[in-house]
Amino acid sequence: MNILIIGSGGREHALAWAIKKSEKCQNLYLLPGNGGTSLIAKNININSSNKEEVLEFCSEAKIDLVVIGPEIPLVDGLSDFLRENNISVFGPSKNAAMIESDKAYAKLIMQRANVPTARFNEFNRAQYNDALNYSDSIGYPVVVKANGLAAGKGVSICFSKVEVNSVLEEIFIKDIFGESGNKIIIEEFLEGDETSIFAITDGEKFICLPAAQDHKRIGDGDTGKNTGGMGAYAPTSIVTDELMEQIKNQIITPVLNEMRNEGNPFSGCLYCGLIFTKTGPKVIEFNCRFGDPETQVVLPLLDGDFLELLLSSARGKLNENAVIYNGGSAVTIVAASNGYPDKYDKGFEISGLNNFKDEDVIIFHAGSAEKNGKIVTNGGRVLNITVLNKNNYLGEAIDKAYSVINQIKFENIYYRKDIGQKGLKYLTNQA
Ligand code: AMP
Ligand code: GLY
Repeated sequence: MNILIIGSGGREHALAWAIKKSEKCQNLYLLPGNGGTSLIAKNININSSNKEEVLEFCSEAKIDLVVIGPEIPLVDGLSDFLRENNISVFGPSKNAAMIESDKAYAKLIMQRANVPTARFNEFNRAQYNDALNYSDSIGYPVVVKANGLAAGKGVSICFSKVEVNSVLEEIFIKDIFGESGNKIIIEEFLEGDETSIFAITDGEKFICLPAAQDHKRIGDGDTGKNTGGMGAYAPTSIVTDELMEQIKNQIITPVLNEMRNEGNPFSGCLYCGLIFTKTGPKVIEFNCRFGDPETQVVLPLLDGDFLELLLSSARGKLNENAVIYNGGSAVTIVAASNGYPDKYDKGFEISGLNNFKDEDVIIFHAGSAEKNGKIVTNGGRVLNITVLNKNNYLGEAIDKAYSVINQIKFENIYYRKDIGQKGLKYLTNQA
């Protein structure tokens, strides 16, 4: 089969790596891909936001399945367009992708499906004062969220009315998020550990992949600015078998049923962002796609045929036995360009990439590019240094990942030094 993956991040490199292991995969293309995917597949240089061009490429290359990585093409309706033209696609329709692109819609689904989530209210630009009063009424801290997509920058935790006011000013008056800020959600602050769970679904049936934990802040000890994610590990011991059952029964099943009932069935990867509060797991967000960098630790844990899983979801007949988790732990550390998530320089040569022949070390590229036969930095998050420990020793995986990253060099390299430590702490607490 011929497969096209849309996207250029570490997530897409991991998807390519997992798909390539399938015997069914003949030709694998990435649009546009990165320096790492150029080593295992063919990077295509066309404009992915031009749907006609993508379709033309699919026809020429006889593509059997398109896998859409990021949210933007999904929210733009690329999957609908390709399906209308008889191409199989892994990923939700534009309407179903609203579960990520329209937070008020996600909350509505959760309310109708009786899914536990933070108490909230929504406000438009004309309701500035109502938003301030509501914040006062629920008590601080409160969480203010732009309703639409905001490239991971749309969430602010505010500890006073003054702080809420300055966020509202940015969103409603200075208009920093454009249309994505036409509406906001204000919700109660939830306390607890966070987890990402991916449900792969055909709209009705689903399977959950091992739960992962991201490290969203730039600095050690979860300090500093929010980023796309600076590292992850999986599985996380916070999600016991019992909790996973609860999440399936109280969150995923009702949400999928609700979306189907109202005519927007969700097929693809439903990313459930959860916080484990004292009163149980609550949803903080849904995404309509795989997470990045969580995918880089979840996929190496799977045995079986990952391509078959995606294909069966795309064809509306999920093969629930296509992959299986047979034990093991994985960790990934993001090597970033110093300055990220703000300004940073790029174009620096990366060395040390070929020093590692062990099967349990996988370097997924993100912001890298191939230039005159050399791999150079080309983005904020550059590499994902991933280590799999088959024996389930998270600590060993972490130590090995740090020994690998120490041997990789590029100018201005930055990475967190505490990735996975939270996972070790939970294990110690449970022992
Ligand atoms: P998001 O951009 O939706 O992924 O949110 C970014 C981060 O904000 C999440 O990973 C959480 O750490 C935090 N967050 C979002 N909603 C809440 C909430 N209701 N309570 C506490 N933290 C939250
Ligand atoms: N790692 C968080 C996300 O993919 O949204």
